[in-house]
Amino acid sequence: MSRAMRYLKRRDFLNLSLGATTAVLVSQCSRVSSRSAVSNAETNTTQFYRSEDGLLSLDLDASAQQLRLGNRTANVLTYNSQMPGPQLEARPGDTVQIRFANRLNQPTNLHFHGLHIPPTGTGDNVFLEISPGGSHTYEFQIPENHPAGTFWYHPHYHGLVAEQLFAGLLGLFIVRGALDDIPEVKAAKETTLVLKDLALDRRGNIPNPGHMAQMTGRIGDLLLANGQLNPEIKVTQGELRRLRLLNASPSRFFQLSLEEHPLFLIATDGGAISAPVELDNLVLAPGERAEVLIRATQTSGQYRLFNTPFNPAQGMMSGGMMGGGGMMGGPSRQRRTETVTTLTYSGTTTETPLPTALLPIAPLPEPQRVRQFTLNHGMGRGMVFLINGQVFDHNRIDTQVALNTVEDWEIINTGTMTHPFHVHINKFQVISRNGQSEPYAAWKDVVSVSPGERVRIRMAFQDYTGKTVYHCHVLDHEDRGMMGILDIQPTAHQ
Ligand code: C2O
Ligand code: CU
Ligand code: CU
Repeated sequence: MSRAMRYLKRRDFLNLSLGATTAVLVSQCSRVSSRSAVSNAETNTTQFYRSEDGLLSLDLDASAQQLRLGNRTANVLTYNSQMPGPQLEARPGDTVQIRFANRLNQPTNLHFHGLHIPPTGTGDNVFLEISPGGSHTYEFQIPENHPAGTFWYHPHYHGLVAEQLFAGLLGLFIVRGALDDIPEVKAAKETTLVLKDLALDRRGNIPNPGHMAQMTGRIGDLLLANGQLNPEIKVTQGELRRLRLLNASPSRFFQLSLEEHPLFLIATDGGAISAPVELDNLVLAPGERAEVLIRATQTSGQYRLFNTPFNPAQGMMSGGMMGGGGMMGGPSRQRRTETVTTLTYSGTTTETPLPTALLPIAPLPEPQRVRQFTLNHGMGRGMVFLINGQVFDHNRIDTQVALNTVEDWEIINTGTMTHPFHVHINKFQVISRNGQSEPYAAWKDVVSVSPGERVRIRMAFQDYTGKTVYHCHVLDHEDRGMMGILDIQPTAHQ
């Protein structure tokens, strides 16, 4: 029995009463709004693994499972029979060991999205192919100076990424640190919300993506929050609630707003921003994360967290491609505002104030080099998606950079779809969008680039050398070629 392994199912977790924050979160996970047709505690037995004495160690397998989704059957892919997969938590400086087994009938691997860890060997190595029946032990250290934040893991086997993620392979990887120690943040109860769409046919199988999905990426008509339809979140009047949000959909954008409650953004992909920013709505592209605080200052009642359709084909065929092209959902479904989760008030408590300051974001030094990446699509065998006119090639190094340098990358979208551009291993800051600077500084690893936009990001290549990738996080676009290889060299090369 491993001293450091802590594997807890929800029931055990509550019995152990490991602290109010977690207990509240866990009990919410099992709640489902009575108005929702879907409710089944068995669909959500999320496992939590936390590091102990500096070690996070666990077994993880990927397998096909039949889950209940309310009164439906869902034939999905799972990590440890869960959808979403186990929630992992570690601290800066911790060692992570994941003994991974592939029980799927196709190759797969793991990617640790947003973590600053080595891209090679037993680290965040997306070039690995773990065959059916095969296994691999991932082992790496989270650096001492790693920011606290909301990260996640999902498969990254090129060609099957969208399919495997859509089918259910994903989980949160939370790093706890300085942000969590800010007194007002610490006092806030925490709820994680993993947002993901899904499509099921009458037999509970995931249908093949239709023809239009070649363009928009696969989109499902079921909006799941923590693997459930419209789960309920109980809040107490006066409290400050922290929501950790992840858009784990392969292609669907979310545009979120909460009835009668502004959202106070405190963290983006790469961790804390410098002070809370009040928002009426929040757009999350595929792969993006955000943390927001909600002041529960309303009176009793229920308040819905809405998703308002967001058209990623901005500027083109409004209602054409996206509306008619909802290969799984159909036009009406995609145009409707839908409820993701519902906040229900019960009881009162003394008011918790908002934090006034969070963590400073130091500007990066001036870049040594500026590069351009032009995003577009074309026709190959079906639709192909291109970076600088090329589709992904395992055997080609597209971009070679030197360790300990800073670069600006201009991402130029000359196509007709929005592309959320993502870089592995090192986070970046968005410097400008069509020449305009961003409203606030933030650490990002995904940035949405709309048709006609030119977005400049600044990145420092730190700590790790080796090959990794950048790509569009509409994963059907990535699987259809919109990815490039980044080689981080120990010394400067051309
Ligand atoms: Cu979440 Cu390479 O991506
Ligand atoms: Cu990633
Ligand atoms: Cu794209």
